[in-house]
Amino acid sequence: MSQKKDTYILGIESSCDETSIAVVKNGTECLANIVSSQIAIHQNYGGVVPEIASREHIKNITIVLEECLKKAHLTMQEIDAIAIAYGPGLIGSLLVGLEAAKTLAYLYNKPLIPVHHIAGHIYANSFVKPLTFPLLALIVSGGHTELVWMKDHFSFQKLGSTLDDAVGECYDKVARVIGLSYPGGPLLDKLAFEGKPTYSLPHPLDDESYNFSFSGLKSAVIHLYHQCEQKGETLRQADLAASFQKVVVETLIKKTKKALQDTGCRNLIIAGGVSANQGLRTAAIELGKELQVEVSIPPLSYCTDNGAMVASAGYYAYCLGRRADLYLNSQSQEELK
Ligand code: KG4
Ligand code: ZN
Repeated sequence: MSQKKDTYILGIESSCDETSIAVVKNGTECLANIVSSQIAIHQNYGGVVPEIASREHIKNITIVLEECLKKAHLTMQEIDAIAIAYGPGLIGSLLVGLEAAKTLAYLYNKPLIPVHHIAGHIYANSFVKPLTFPLLALIVSGGHTELVWMKDHFSFQKLGSTLDDAVGECYDKVARVIGLSYPGGPLLDKLAFEGKPTYSLPHPLDDESYNFSFSGLKSAVIHLYHQCEQKGETLRQADLAASFQKVVVETLIKKTKKALQDTGCRNLIIAGGVSANQGLRTAAIELGKELQVEVSIPPLSYCTDNGAMVASAGYYAYCLGRRADLYLNSQSQEELK
């Protein structure tokens, strides 16, 4: 009896400040996921410097590829297809990964699979268990905050999104103001557990829509910080972090809860870098218990940008017959598809 052949997808991610390449078997089994982070370099500037990011990707990408294939114990000939996160992201950074993907596809005569960066974040949940539809996805990253309804693979219906700042961006900006280094999200999260939510902050866009707004909250924290400075008062940094995190998590959970109740959906997945947030992870699990909804959150190593999520999404796209030709271009802004 003939056995179904295993499918190995190489996934390439270079949309911001991580050069990452992974090999994933059959969409769910990660054989290697190499992430070369540029955080230490960009920390000197308080944020990502696009030109430096592109140059670092160029320096790192072949080394990351070699390391990945070595770890996966595979050669390029044994790879079935190459998945590339072609957008959205920093255009120069995306181009480096895209050119690498196209070169490999041409050289080894492999299909090229276009993957939207946020689809990659969603499919990172495949490493917990294969996605079950219909599902509601709460997307929380440095560039996106969205509630997305999925009836099937690659069927994305946006229910709501942020009207201004993304939640990760808000974390990073608040962290910078209170003196934490880049990227501030994880540091602010850690600090929040050392404090108490004693500061009163506004709950942004507390309405019946599925949209979010974080710029007002960010301004309120910055205003509070400067007020304390002017009065010569010392700000209780950990208490401020706890107050900020409480409002953010409550806002995200409230809108997610409403969307789950309105749709009657039984599956919730959290996706994007901010899904690493301990406050959000705990609150999402509690929400699942309350509504008897199954909740999936990626393991920490798959929350922030990585090649494995691109390879996993690439596998399902490959099965659907999605292909790109060598004219594929990178896109700094792109609708989820
Ligand atoms: O998904 P991601 O790696 O890149 C984008 O697609 O944007 O997300 C990065 C964002 C950054 O803003 C970072 O500060 C935030 O995710 N982040 C966190 C945590 N870990 C990463 N924010 C809050 N708490 C965390 N533990
Ligand atoms: Zn991302």
